[in-house]
Amino acid sequence: MRILSGVQPSGKLHIGNYLGAIRQFLSLQEDPGNDCYYFIADLHAMTTVQDGAALRENSLSLATDFLALGLDPARSVLYRQSDVPEVAELTWMLSVVTPFALLQRAHSYKDKVARGIAPSQGLFAYPVLMAADILIVRSDRVPVGKDQKQHVEITRDIATTFNQAYGTGLLKLPEPMILDDVAVVPGLDGQKMSKSYGNTLDIFAPEGELKKKVMSIVTDSTPVESPKPLSGALYELLNLFTPAAEWPATESRFRDGGTGYGELKKLLLGRLLDTFGAARQRREDLAKDPGQVKEVLRDGCARARRVVSEVMADCRHACGLGWR
Ligand code: ADP
Ligand code: TRP
Repeated sequence: MRILSGVQPSGKLHIGNYLGAIRQFLSLQEDPGNDCYYFIADLHAMTTVQDGAALRENSLSLATDFLALGLDPARSVLYRQSDVPEVAELTWMLSVVTPFALLQRAHSYKDKVARGIAPSQGLFAYPVLMAADILIVRSDRVPVGKDQKQHVEITRDIATTFNQAYGTGLLKLPEPMILDDVAVVPGLDGQKMSKSYGNTLDIFAPEGELKKKVMSIVTDSTPVESPKPLSGALYELLNLFTPAAEWPATESRFRDGGTGYGELKKLLLGRLLDTFGAARQRREDLAKDPGQVKEVLRDGCARARRVVSEVMADCRHACGLGWR
């Protein structure tokens, strides 16, 4: 099965990204029957990050994060989207068959504009670029968070229209892979954790900063001795990071009273450091050698371009571009 997914280098990686997306990427590479392609979606990030130095830095940083978390270049192809220029070329081929009305139905465009992002042509056409990413390697499955489901459906629609125009079977229709059991990870304020809400716990933040963030999780004013509500961001985050066998003991500290929120927050901090400790150490080591990370991306680019060349030759010919 060919698997493909991407993450935008638009800010620091947080635990919502890890639980909602990256953890799934890592488990898929464990199956030798899978052929995994993961990429840094820098062309997508240009819709919001318009500072060249920052984008380049974010891309290298995200690649370093992926490797630190366990993405294994021997089993997965890791590349930077802009290093595979055929993606932009296929985007144009798809654009000419993509109905304007299909893009007008996309929620993400409306949500982003509502959050104050400039409504550019690129932002509007974002789903066509995403379709090119997916279709260019003839992916079978696309592991993503729930918020990306509509984009995969749009990809299927675009592929169907392209195949009708230019030839059955040229492009393969992908299926989304969505983990239903991963509830939306709450942020410090109880809303969905998201870079754009400034309520994140960043996996690789320095320990002091992480501690400050954990201590700022919003709780109510229940006194130390009283039972605490079995809900809210602190409760849910502890639940996500406590091994199942130890959860009843932790939950009873909420239920029985006698434990203050400060103590429960320290417990969460400890869990986060346990979960990500090895990855944080690996990241420190990798950050000292950016050349090594760039080499992984260069190698990934060469592997990805070998695969995309087949699809591109077929599509160019079908569209009447170039000679054979
Ligand atoms: P953000 O909302 O912080 O900008 P992105 O949109 O870049 O995050 O998301 C990258 C990936 O992480 C997506 O697959 C998305 O579904 C997942 N993700 C982001 N935030 C959460 C969350 N709070 N809970 C679960 N998954 C999330
Ligand atoms: N749109 C995705 C997000 O914001 C990132 C992305 C770009 C992607 N291209 C992709 C995800 C292709 C899966 C497949 O999270």
